[in-house]
Amino acid sequence: MNRGAERERYVFLETFGCQMNDNDSERILGHLATMNYRATDDPEGADLILLNTCSIREKAEHKVYSALGRYRGVKRKKPHTIIGVGGCVGQQQGERLLKRLDYLDIVFGTATIHRLPELIRSVDRERGQREATELTTALAPDEFAITPFRDSSYKAFVTIMRGCDNFCTYCIVPYVRGREVSRSAGSIVDEVEGLAASGVREITLIGQNVNSYGNDGGDTSFPALVKKVCRVEGVERVRFTTSHPKDLSVELIDLIAGEEKICNHLHLPVQSGSDKVLKGMGRGYRRSEYLHKISLLKELSPDISLTTDIIVGFPGEGESDFNDTVTLLKAVEYDNIFSFKYSPRPMTKAASYEEQIDEDVKSARLQTVQKLQSGITLAKNRRLVGESLYVLVEGKAKSGGALFTGRTSCNRVVNFPGDEEWAGTTVKVTVQEGFLNSLKGVVKGVNLC
Ligand code: SAH
Ligand code: SF4
Ligand code: F3S
Repeated sequence: MNRGAERERYVFLETFGCQMNDNDSERILGHLATMNYRATDDPEGADLILLNTCSIREKAEHKVYSALGRYRGVKRKKPHTIIGVGGCVGQQQGERLLKRLDYLDIVFGTATIHRLPELIRSVDRERGQREATELTTALAPDEFAITPFRDSSYKAFVTIMRGCDNFCTYCIVPYVRGREVSRSAGSIVDEVEGLAASGVREITLIGQNVNSYGNDGGDTSFPALVKKVCRVEGVERVRFTTSHPKDLSVELIDLIAGEEKICNHLHLPVQSGSDKVLKGMGRGYRRSEYLHKISLLKELSPDISLTTDIIVGFPGEGESDFNDTVTLLKAVEYDNIFSFKYSPRPMTKAASYEEQIDEDVKSARLQTVQKLQSGITLAKNRRLVGESLYVLVEGKAKSGGALFTGRTSCNRVVNFPGDEEWAGTTVKVTVQEGFLNSLKGVVKGVNLC
């Protein structure tokens, strides 16, 4: 069908949450481009306002409602603006959201992005509320058929699966993303080949549990998929996230060590250092098993950068359990962590556990963990002073000035005096200063291969 006839319109899209949502937003813009929608930074100038939302913690959900309050004001001034909510809150609330907010036009979910054009055209034809939040167990044929609209020309996220089967007792993801469904290896490799041909150098394979890719059937295991992606001509770096510790096989640890294109970084969420808490969370591993895998990773890839997620204040977490998390952080010496206060979520098992922890105890524990980790991160970044690291140049640094920015294989942000022409190439930077969130350096050699 020729969509060229549709008039040019503008969409303002606000994205919350994780990398899955970032890539979903790129797919949303890809679908909307087929309807002649262009992205704008100005909600007041938009014909369509979309929120791609996150529900992981209560705070994340609240952010969505306050954003909606702001956009309601836009609609009052410009009643023809269409407002839609998608993503994990859309999936979680469905029709309830439409009932609660009469100014909302569309609610869509995490597996119905491909239906957006149809929903928008339907509202165009006749105003009224529309909902599409079915969570199918199989991928719809056109779910990944669109070319996502990506920001960077050098780096790309590629979704390899949706959903999660783990049902950690605190987590809403399995309820809002459904069961694990893997994309076919063929369609993933096709997408990566297309990206490489267009100049993309770094691929990040994403999924809630990337390393259980293929467990739902199919003939390609996760390590086999990663090997295929590494073989694509033009791809220089391969990352994947998020890996679940219980599914981290020795085969994958070996591959990380042996395959040059796989970046020297692994995000391996531990959540807690206490066996009692890990059991209550239903994580499927013990502290000692996790630490054993960390030792193996460090032994085979001595320079590997490790990051993790920590939850403090899970129901029943006593002082000694919390101390187990502190000692684990000291033992592993992660390069960085993401830490959160436990937040009870609807539908999850842990929300009904007794022994919920007081908010002020959670806050104090979070502060302890963050202070400890800041010291470790800063010391590790300072230790890199004098070393030379390869950096994939992304462009001008956001901080402004004359600095350029990029990331190392170990995923550190490096800023350095540079040149526009280096964007998309790998340069060797000698580190001069280490800060908490970045490094500063100077370029010693440009690899223009
Ligand atoms: N699939 C990934 C990450 C999922 S969400 C994994 O299993 O590791 C990202 C992080 O949010 C989680 O690792 C966890 O640390 C945190 N998180 C999830 N649910 C939470 C909750 N109810 N309260 C606080 N943090 C939570
Ligand atoms: Fe949530 Fe656990 Fe699944 Fe991660 S593995 S998305 S924490 S249920
Ligand atoms: Fe949030 Fe959904 Fe991701 S709940 S963390 S956007 S999977």
